[in-house]
Amino acid sequence: MRVALISHSASFYTTNRLLSAAHKLGHAAELLDPVRVYLGPSGPATPEGGPIAPPHVVIPRIGDRLHRWGLSLLEAVVGAGAATAVDVETIARVHDKARTQVALQRARIPVIPTAVIRERAHIDAALTSLAAFAPDGRWIIKPVHGAQGGGVIQVDSATGANSTLDALMTRRKTSIIQPYVVAPDAPSAPSQQRDLRVLVAGGEALAAAWRIAKPGEFRTNVHQGGTVRPYAGDRAPLDWACRAAAAVGLAFAGVDLIEYDGGWAVLEVNANPGIAGVEAASRRDLATPFVTRYLKAARPL
Ligand SMILES: Nc1ncnc2c1ncn2[C@@H]1O[C@H](COP(=O)(O)OP(=O)(O)O)[C@@H](O)[C@H]1O
Ligand SMILES: [Mg+2]
Repeated sequence: MRVALISHSASFYTTNRLLSAAHKLGHAAELLDPVRVYLGPSGPATPEGGPIAPPHVVIPRIGDRLHRWGLSLLEAVVGAGAATAVDVETIARVHDKARTQVALQRARIPVIPTAVIRERAHIDAALTSLAAFAPDGRWIIKPVHGAQGGGVIQVDSATGANSTLDALMTRRKTSIIQPYVVAPDAPSAPSQQRDLRVLVAGGEALAAAWRIAKPGEFRTNVHQGGTVRPYAGDRAPLDWACRAAAAVGLAFAGVDLIEYDGGWAVLEVNANPGIAGVEAASRRDLATPFVTRYLKAARPL
């Protein structure tokens, strides 16, 4: 089969792993770099090579930076006949944390109590409505579109929350407000923040790993210096992860969960999950089962 990955570079860890897994499985795998491809009258093309023959299957790896253009390209490739297991509208919905939150709440998935605001006039009411969930007065404020921990702010007081939100509202940045959830002490990493990343593939949990924030940092993202550890706990968070992915319409996703209120809460559903952390923690090849499941699930539109 001819398989194409929409991704800017074959040197990205996950892109590289998925391309080589596809090769190993006997497929012709190629990269569709959104920076090199344009949309011509008969579909995707490159200046050097002309029109691109549509692949049998397209795997989108659309990050935050070229998001809208990446989706246009995916739409064009799928429109030209390529099969996919993730549709364009779903990726667009999941890229918006406010929309994801609504979908999770509707499906009765446990989440962190959350407010989303885009007007200065809403700051006080939003903080008041969440106050009972943040008795220590610590808050998280984050952008609706964001990745790898960028723009996620932690403040330690109502004054800090007010002034931060005021600055964001002045610049018309729709923002998410949540109580700051403190992770229970883990014996292996006391007083360090942690959460659980579950890789969902084909609607089932393929692997899970703890993500531990580096000392002095609250964000667990690997891009913020977080490290990973194998997860050997029970299935409950894995099942929530699958339900969360299904609730937003994704069969392939990275779902982040945080220990909250004696159980688990889904923090984020990511349509473009990297596999570096979960592969390192589990010491398993996850790229091959990921690609296998993806090719099995892919359908033409
Ligand atoms: N309400 C919260 N309480 C505690 N930590 C949080 C909260 N929200 C986010 N974080 C931390 O910040 C990180 C990044 O937040 P997230 O919402 O996943 O955004 P991104 O899409 O940038 O990864 C999370 O992995 C987690 O470590
Ligand atoms: Mg995240």
